[in-house]
Amino acid sequence: MKNFENQVAFITGGNSGIGKASALSVAREGANVMLADLKENPEVLREIKSLGVKASFVRCDVSKAEEVKNAIAETVKQFGSLDIALNNAGIGDQGMIHEKSLEQWERVISINLSGVFYCMKYEVEQMLKQKTGGKIINVSSILGQVAEAGAAAYVAAKHGVVGLTKTAAIEYGTKNIRVNAIGPGYIETPLLKDMDEEKIHALEGRHTMKRLGHSEEVAKAFLWLASNDSSFLTGDYIPVDGGYLAQ
Ligand SMILES: NC(=O)c1ccc[n+]([C@@H]2O[C@H](COP(=O)([O-])OP(=O)(O)OC[C@H]3O[C@@H](n4cnc5c(N)ncnc54)[C@H](O)[C@@H]3O)[C@@H](O)[C@H]2O)c1
Repeated sequence: MKNFENQVAFITGGNSGIGKASALSVAREGANVMLADLKENPEVLREIKSLGVKASFVRCDVSKAEEVKNAIAETVKQFGSLDIALNNAGIGDQGMIHEKSLEQWERVISINLSGVFYCMKYEVEQMLKQKTGGKIINVSSILGQVAEAGAAAYVAAKHGVVGLTKTAAIEYGTKNIRVNAIGPGYIETPLLKDMDEEKIHALEGRHTMKRLGHSEEVAKAFLWLASNDSSFLTGDYIPVDGGYLAQ
């Protein structure tokens, strides 16, 4: 029997990058998957279904609480439970503090921080109703631990995600709900698509391993946190960063 057979995984931002790699990895282990994203990507859905599990898409902008609530209700309606949640949807940031528009600040905070809160609120509500509890994994960043010039909203949001993770962990530690965060270093995904070669090369150099990470390498940490192999972890932040934070 596969590790996640008959389990249901809800993944925000599941169409691309880390979310997509995580969806495929948990599906390979037998989980049924609900992808929540801004618009449907039939190709990704097909790829997941080809692994022999059920997969579905629900349109959901995580910065809108009502849409998150509906997406989770839809997951339970279609699949019967919510066992694993990966709160992964996120966007990048730019501009020094004095130059950043208020709209940019609010947009990043509403997706990267409030979005994670909305997801956890409705996920926990469902997990408390189930006898089986659940596992929540929030995608923070190395920038949940250290700063980067030109990314104040992103840095604040990702630090906030670590705080939300710890708070949820202690609130539900005895309710069979484990909540952990992953802190990826720079990972080759469409999120970095606007960076030129020089910037990418400079970013590679900041990792001890002198390279960027791959989505699949982050997905492995997700899979471990979603499994019972990590049964004594909650409220923890796991970097997956090629040694970025070690220096
Ligand atoms: N790529 C990196 O270097 C890196 C490093 C550290 C952390 N992260 C974090 O990993 C997560 C995934 O990033 P990625 O690199 O895979 O990016 P990506 O751009 O490849 O994927 C992000 C996904 O989120 C979706 N999304 C964006 N806004 C949304 C919204 N409001 N509601 C629902 N879905 C939305 C996008 O449509 C996309 O499918 C993000 O939270 C990001 O901050 C990425």
